[in-house]
Amino acid sequence: MGTLDGKVIIVTGSAKGMGAAEAHDASRQGARVIVTDILNEQGKETAAEIGATYRSLDVTSKENWNEVISSVIDEHGRIDGLVNNAGIYTSQDIFSESDDVFQRIIEVNQLGTYLGMAAVAPIMASQKSGSIVNISSVAGMRAQANIAYMASKWAVRGMTKGVAKTLANSGVRCNSVHPGAVNTDILFGLEDETVDQLITSIPMGRSGEPSEVARVVTFLLSDSASYITGAELVVDGGMII
Ligand SMILES: NC(=O)c1ccc[n+]([C@@H]2O[C@H](COP(=O)([O-])OP(=O)(O)OC[C@H]3O[C@@H](n4cnc5c(N)ncnc54)[C@H](O)[C@@H]3O)[C@@H](O)[C@H]2O)c1
Repeated sequence: MGTLDGKVIIVTGSAKGMGAAEAHDASRQGARVIVTDILNEQGKETAAEIGATYRSLDVTSKENWNEVISSVIDEHGRIDGLVNNAGIYTSQDIFSESDDVFQRIIEVNQLGTYLGMAAVAPIMASQKSGSIVNISSVAGMRAQANIAYMASKWAVRGMTKGVAKTLANSGVRCNSVHPGAVNTDILFGLEDETVDQLITSIPMGRSGEPSEVARVVTFLLSDSASYITGAELVVDGGMII
C-alpha cells in the first residue's frame, strides 16, 4: 500500500528535473499523477515512463489552467494534490538593466504559483480536503544577490502562509519546500566555479538528488502530514543552518 493511494495529483513543470522526480515518487506511492509542462514531447515521455497522464500547461496562463483543471475534474472528479514546481532561474542582480528578465521570473515563479493555487482552491475547499505544495528555494529563506529569483521565491513562501491560513478550516493544507543545490538543469547551467563554491558552503559536502526533494513533497501530499500547514521544509544538506 502506498502513502498516496488513489489520490489525484497535478505536478507542474514535471517533464524533467525535480518535477519529474516528484511525479515519479507520487506515482510510486499509488497516486494518479498528471504530469504538466510546456515541454510537450519530454512531458509525454516522462508521463509514459511513470504510468501518469500528460497535459500541456503554461503556468502563466489562466486560460490554460482552467482547461487543465476542467479536464482533470472531468476525468477524475477530484483533485487531491497540486505541486507548484515549475520555475525558471536567473542570476541577475540589482545592477542588471534587464527589467524584462525580472518580469518573466516573477511571471513564471510567482504568478504561476498564484494561478495554480487560485485554480484548485475552490475545488479543494468544496471537497474539504487537499494538499498544495509550493516549491520555493533557500533563496526564499535568506538574502541573495539574484534579486528577481530571490523575490519570486520569497513571494512563494509568503503566499503559501497566507493561503494556508485562509484554507486551514476547509481541510486544505498548503506548505512550501525550500531546496538548496539540487542536481538538475538549473544547477548544471551555473558556472563550474559557482557550483564548486556552492557545494563548499554545504555542511553535508554535496548537492542533493531530485529524489531527495521528491520524498519530502510526497510526505507533504500524504495524510502523514495531516497536521502540517503553512510550514516551510528546507531540503538543503544544511546549507542555511
Ligand atoms: N535545482 C535547484 O538547485 C533548485 C534549488 C531550489 C529551487 N529549485 C526550484 O525547483 C523547481 C524545479 O526546478 P528544476 O531544478 O527541476 O529545474 P528544471 O529546469 O529541470 O525544471 C523546471 C521545469 O519547469 C518548466 N517550466 C518552465 N517554465 C514553465 C512555464 N511557464 N509553465 C510550465 N512549466 C514551465 C520547464 O519546462 C522544466 O520542465 C523550480 O521552481 C526551481 O526554482 C531548484
